[in-house]
Amino acid sequence: MSGSGQTHDDHRQWAETSHCRVSAARHLGGFAVLELIAPRIARRAAPGQFVMVTVPGEGYLLRRPISLFSAEADCIALLVEARGRGSERLTRLEVGDVVDVAGPLGSAFPTQGVTNALLVGGGIGCAPLQYLADELAAAGAHVTAALGFRDFRAARAVGAFTIERLSVATEDGSVGRAGTVLHLLAALDVAPGTTVYACGPTPMIAAVQRWTFHEGLRGYVSLEAHMACGTGSCHGCVVDTARGKLRVCSEGPVFRLDEVTP
Ligand SMILES: Cc1cc2nc3c(=O)[nH]c(=O)nc-3n(C[C@H](O)[C@H](O)[C@H](O)COP(=O)(O)OP(=O)(O)OC[C@H]3O[C@@H](n4cnc5c(N)ncnc54)[C@H](O)[C@@H]3O)c2cc1C
Ligand code: FES
Repeated sequence: MSGSGQTHDDHRQWAETSHCRVSAARHLGGFAVLELIAPRIARRAAPGQFVMVTVPGEGYLLRRPISLFSAEADCIALLVEARGRGSERLTRLEVGDVVDVAGPLGSAFPTQGVTNALLVGGGIGCAPLQYLADELAAAGAHVTAALGFRDFRAARAVGAFTIERLSVATEDGSVGRAGTVLHLLAALDVAPGTTVYACGPTPMIAAVQRWTFHEGLRGYVSLEAHMACGTGSCHGCVVDTARGKLRVCSEGPVFRLDEVTP
């Protein structure tokens, strides 16, 4: 992380906080795409990183971790799903509202040298994939995305994505192919050497990991964990990896697919 003064052994990260004004808000069922004016974050951000956002109002002590859905010029965008009280309040933000945002935080998806990329997402775990697709496509990579959702309500998030080669599955068959994202993967003609990028619920990550290894591919995963500080100080987000116990917020959230045990 540039500018953090971070050493190899010290993964606590420097979290610059910005007061960010909402410049656009689009609602898709229980989801909202929020565009925030955040020049300092947008300039330093990379796909896979996240921000910690304050929730306006009483009783929201902790910031909520939210992935960067996009970052362009002076703005960042977040795709937020109303899950509990805090995220529901965030989906109700309106143009002109101001929130405190710390970031960009965490590790980014490696993209250098990637010519073929397969982006696999499940549920709100899909959120970092638009930014990743944009960066990969801008670098000339061939990008294919497969997104899986539980049902029609959860699949409303698809309306936020503008990835050109995008296939969708829902478990209840209401949108796209009936089944899981694994059914989409089975139907794809994947070029040798394709890099897989996965984010979503743990069972999906485990299944995508098995599929990736079976196909002889390599890839990266973005993990979720409950976070308090988001900056490496509280050790509340530790996961077991092949490199030992690592913090999702600071050593992650992006890890190599072969070093995690979902
Ligand atoms: C690195 C990272 C990136 C994330 N990116 C996004 C994003 O782009 N968009 C988005 O909508 N959400 C994202 N999340 C999840 C989001 O942070 C949680 O949904 C939110 O903090 C829940 O707050 P709440 O007050 O609404 O929920 P609570 O009332 O605290 O809980 C509601 C439900 O959400 C679950 N939950 C709470 N926190 C998390 C968490 N960190 N991970 C998984 N489940 C959780 C709880 O178990 C409970 O079932 C991300 C989480 C992490 C760790
Ligand atoms: S959330 Fe505190 S160390 Fe990761």
